[in-house]
Amino acid sequence: MDASGGHDLVIQTRDLTKIYRMGEVEVAALNGVSVEIARGEFLSIMGHSGSGKSTFMNLIGCLDRPTSGIYLLEGRDVSRLSSDQLAEVRNRSIGFVFQGFNLLPKQTALQNVELPLLYAGAAPEERRRRAQEALRAVGLESRLAHRPREMSGGQQQRVAIARAFVSEPALILADEPTGNLDTKSSDEVMEIFRELNRTHGITIVVVTHESDVAAKTQRTIVFRDGRIVETAA
Ligand SMILES: Nc1ncnc2c1ncn2[C@@H]1O[C@H](COP(=O)(O)OP(=O)(O)OP(=O)(O)O)[C@@H](O)[C@H]1O
Ligand SMILES: [Mg+2]
Repeated sequence: MDASGGHDLVIQTRDLTKIYRMGEVEVAALNGVSVEIARGEFLSIMGHSGSGKSTFMNLIGCLDRPTSGIYLLEGRDVSRLSSDQLAEVRNRSIGFVFQGFNLLPKQTALQNVELPLLYAGAAPEERRRRAQEALRAVGLESRLAHRPREMSGGQQQRVAIARAFVSEPALILADEPTGNLDTKSSDEVMEIFRELNRTHGITIVVVTHESDVAAKTQRTIVFRDGRIVETAA
């Protein structure tokens, strides 16, 4: 048994709400979201533009704080932490993958993947070894010295995935990771996520607009107007 009462939950939210105030107007970007995500799940999030998907990802990624409601990450209440404390939690527990890859353009694939380990204070030898292993796991062992512009979109996204999991986070959050990719690269990226999920037990949450991408995950949550309207296996 653990703190969550027997279920090993990575994410547990209760009535999570995010309200943006625009002058006189209030926008409820997230409107009372209660959800549980177990360790080792591979899950997708769908919903129309503006339904609150990115807002939800920013909250569970500890990039932002809710207006109200509770968020437990690995059983720990992180809803009211300071920005510094949130940064610490992010570095230790969460890897991010974005639609636009967000790699450093002047750094090689290897240097990009080493970066989280550099922040974590790992020694140069260890950084290099682990970054090489991560790049091998995404099939890019022959591209270590390439810079982002010397790689295809699909390869750049695989570097970004290696960077996201090199520090062995409990959770990887990916907001439209296949949005800029062709079908073949998109399939490769989803296959890598599935493999990381299966062999490393990393919990993975993917936001997507494409139902064939969502179909590759174990469960889909659908947002509408800041609420969850549907959960399908
Ligand atoms: N920083 C902000 N300030 C004010 N309103 C915001 C802010 N960020 C998001 N919103 C509003 O909150 C709602 C949810 O936005 P969000 O970005 O979460 O949608 P989304 O589901 O990710 O959409 P998309 O599919 O287009 O990425 C939208 O109505 C949006 O206009
Ligand atoms: Mg979004």
